[in-house]
Amino acid sequence: MSICSAAVLISGSGTNLQAFIDETASGKIDLELSVVLSNRPDAAGLERARKADISIECLRHQDYPERAQFDAALVETLDKYAPDLVILAGFMRVLTATFVDHFRGRILNIHPSLLPKFPGLDTHRRALDAGEKWHGSTVHFVTGELDGGPALIQGRVPVRPGDSMAELAARVLAVEHKIYPQAVRLFAAGRIQYRDGSAWLDGERLNEPLQYSNTIRG
Ligand code: GRF
Repeated sequence: MSICSAAVLISGSGTNLQAFIDETASGKIDLELSVVLSNRPDAAGLERARKADISIECLRHQDYPERAQFDAALVETLDKYAPDLVILAGFMRVLTATFVDHFRGRILNIHPSLLPKFPGLDTHRRALDAGEKWHGSTVHFVTGELDGGPALIQGRVPVRPGDSMAELAARVLAVEHKIYPQAVRLFAAGRIQYRDGSAWLDGERLNEPLQYSNTIRG
């Protein structure tokens, strides 16, 4: 089987991108990072891509009058790299059907909550306000429904008494750097698929997301 090639889309610091860079460099994931694309030229993650010698593309969403035109440009740009997988890693734009249909079943996102809890923005604040005992992050396939595609894996972290938002966010980010590479490792090995609106692992429909533990073999 040929090596899985991935495009990583970012808007910000790119610590999840860094996790992929590190894991591919150390041979822990069989993945080729073909391109890193940002909608913000000042995204710090672009520097990580540069250092790792990965191709970079930058498409400013403000340069496109409509969301659909931006998405068409994204598709055209990414198609040059023919990615097997599109990894959204802190990409802060909502994608339209133009994009989702083109790469259907090959787009992963990481969302900083235990979906279906807290889709959308400001998840750490909302988890604290709701008095949650547990919070975390979810890797899921991207469909037309915002943060609503089938979930693959979740990493749970405790919410500690007196946690600030920054403390909670840092704890969630640390678990993201474990679960996202794990999900991608399974995808790249052909073990995870999107079919009939569901996620499948080793030929079985995943009714519940995997829970992160060091014992999931990838
Ligand atoms: C992560 O918390 C992720 O869940 C969310 O955006 C953040 C990206 O962080 N989608 P980074 O840019 O990878 O550091």
